[in-house]
Amino acid sequence: MSAPVLVAEGLTKHYPVKSGLFGGTQLVRALNDVSFTLTAGRTLAVVGESGCGKSTLARMLTMIEAPTAGRLSIGGEEVTPDRWSEMRNKVQIVFQDPYGSLNPRHRVGAILEEPLKINRPDMSADERTARAREMLAQVGLRPEHYDRYPHMFSGGQRQRIAVGRALMLDPKLLVLDEPVSALDLSIQSQILNLLLDLQERLGLAYVFISHDLSVVRHVADEVIVMYLGHSVEYASKEALFDAQRHPYTKALLSATPRADPGQHSQRIRLSGELPSPLNIPAGCPFSPRCWLAQDRCRTERPHLSDESHAHACFFPLEAEAPVSA
Ligand SMILES: Nc1ncnc2c1ncn2[C@@H]1O[C@H](COP(=O)(O)OP(=O)(O)O)[C@@H](O)[C@H]1O
Ligand SMILES: [Mg+2]
Repeated sequence: MSAPVLVAEGLTKHYPVKSGLFGGTQLVRALNDVSFTLTAGRTLAVVGESGCGKSTLARMLTMIEAPTAGRLSIGGEEVTPDRWSEMRNKVQIVFQDPYGSLNPRHRVGAILEEPLKINRPDMSADERTARAREMLAQVGLRPEHYDRYPHMFSGGQRQRIAVGRALMLDPKLLVLDEPVSALDLSIQSQILNLLLDLQERLGLAYVFISHDLSVVRHVADEVIVMYLGHSVEYASKEALFDAQRHPYTKALLSATPRADPGQHSQRIRLSGELPSPLNIPAGCPFSPRCWLAQDRCRTERPHLSDESHAHACFFPLEAEAPVSA
């Protein structure tokens, strides 16, 4: 068993926001007590609806922002604010928007070389150029692309550039925040295959964030399902797609037919609106919309169970008996 690349313990992020006429402050509870372990060469997918705290988690993991509470360790070393600048390079991020994330005024070569310029004073300009050209090939671009500007590329090609830039400092861990969500379906699978290929060749660990369970099914080893900033289910991909224990996961999967081929489960329609993280329901955050909720669920918060297939539910769904032919 290889050492963990990333351990998160109780990561929490609350944003104070001004509210009302009288200048009061409220808390946006964007991320609440999220814990997991990721080992080398593996992919942890984080899935959930828009607003459930995925990008907030990504900002904690990449040290773009400090958590309100909780601990993070990377490569066996605890991340502390005084070590941020030195540790930040061990984790790189790729964002959803391949149009916004690349500087339009820089050529691809300069974009790829920038992390080296900042972090590798030992490297000569020629060495940086050689490394950037090598990276173009690794991400499936051509040598002549070195001198072009981002606007000359398609969305998929830009995402290849963003992945290349993220890999320039040889990180062991990439956080991919909806990396294919802005791309056409056919391009999505090309980028996913590139990521899988790079993972295998370079032994990378991925935190792969997506709202789309069919994409998650393609890439994940383990999956965390988030709802209103809470992890509600955490299991291996096989276990999770085989049988969902948390009612929310079941509902989410039933709304993604492409993720659930073969299973002809009926779409579960959730009642009520998704609550705001300014006002998270008491007890289980999912209880107001859960068709199985009982009194206890409305008063007491369930925590993630201590099992390999973990769920935060007092009345989890039973594993379904296999359907006989
Ligand atoms: N800087 C911030 N200040 C206040 N609220 C924020 C901030 N960043 C994110 N949020 C809120 O936190 C919640 C989670 O956001 P986010 O992590 O972006 O979700 P996701 O990526 O899953 O769509 C949302 O309600 C969002 O509006
Ligand atoms: Mg997001």
